[in-house]
Amino acid sequence: MRVLLIGGTNFIGPALTRRLVGMGHEVAVFHRGRTRAELPVGVGRILGDRRDLGSRVDEFRRFAPDVVVDMIAFTEGDALGLVETFRALARRAVVVSSGDVYRAYGRFIGFEDGPIEPTPLTEDSPSREVLFPFRPRAEGPDDFFFSYDKIPVERVILGEPDLPGTVLRLPMVHGPGDPYRRLSAYIRRMDDGRPAIVLDEAMAGWKCPRGYVEDVAAAIATAVVDDRAERRVYNVAERDSLTEAGWVRRIGEAVGWRGRIVAAPVGRIPLPYHMNQDVDMDSGRIRRELDYAETTPPDEALAMTIAWERANPPTTLHGLGLLDYEAEDELLGEIGGDRGPVGRQLL
Ligand SMILES: NC(=O)c1ccc[n+]([C@@H]2O[C@H](COP(=O)([O-])OP(=O)(O)OC[C@H]3O[C@@H](n4cnc5c(N)ncnc54)[C@H](OP(=O)(O)O)[C@@H]3O)[C@@H](O)[C@H]2O)c1
Repeated sequence: MRVLLIGGTNFIGPALTRRLVGMGHEVAVFHRGRTRAELPVGVGRILGDRRDLGSRVDEFRRFAPDVVVDMIAFTEGDALGLVETFRALARRAVVVSSGDVYRAYGRFIGFEDGPIEPTPLTEDSPSREVLFPFRPRAEGPDDFFFSYDKIPVERVILGEPDLPGTVLRLPMVHGPGDPYRRLSAYIRRMDDGRPAIVLDEAMAGWKCPRGYVEDVAAAIATAVVDDRAERRVYNVAERDSLTEAGWVRRIGEAVGWRGRIVAAPVGRIPLPYHMNQDVDMDSGRIRRELDYAETTPPDEALAMTIAWERANPPTTLHGLGLLDYEAEDELLGEIGGDRGPVGRQLL
């Protein structure tokens, strides 16, 4: 099978490319040429900007993709450009979406009011009712956040009769090359020998979907090669979502950290989100319908991420709901840290 990736040279794309090549497929990536990645020998490259896919139609036609995978459809315009260009060129489109399409996510980020949404979220759970969740943080109409929304992307992809689409809703992905450095703030604390990590009590119990980059890539590859995925939507996530405290403990075990995880009363640590709204996803459908299963042992996945984080320490750390050490020590001194109910040691 010939597979064309729109994007493909940053984080998940190279893992997907390696996976598809390993399965014996022919792969080409389309990107601007700004992001460098080591891709397997024989992977084709078509350079251009996705805002002008039309100008590369001849090259797309020469490659003759069976399936086009859009790694970077962020706006309705992106999705419209994709279907217009590929409806006559490819048999199927697979689009990488996100768990942020769910109404629960809107509640979590405080973008939509209402009661707590039940989780784990299935593909049939309600979507957000309000579009453009990050527009409030956009600096103007040209800002990425102004037009970002995967809901209109999904509508276009699933509504196109001549290019059957598949939508994959991704979790929070970790692994070597993670552009969001999701583990780095915890690893730094542990490597600095911090005696305790303090989490807001609600955040400690918060559940979100996670996945290791190689496994997420494998899930995408599964949907690429299997026509049963046509016109279907799939959540991609680990089978059971840990709470944040459980996740920190697992990282700690992998790092060899023996400190404590302590709960601070809600309100003591400023948080921009509503941590009483879980956003964990049920990934049963892709497992049942496409026989997807992770292939990386969880301990190995975490060890790979940690090794990469240690070898590539970020200059700035962005840990959700984490304080600087001085403030953390002050709070720990105040709330105790080993006795409940305030300052309850969690794990
Ligand atoms: N990481 C997560 O935790 C997470 C969670 C949920 C969903 N997702 C979804 O995963 C996808 C991104 O994954 P990734 O970053 O790993 O993707 P990737 O496909 O590995 O990398 C992004 C690619 O897009 C190319 N690109 C950027 N702007 C372009 C443009 N205007 N025209 C052509 N090419 C362009 C980049 O290359 P050049 O710079 O060379 O152009 C690069 O190849 C997104 O759809 C995101 O919403 C990720």
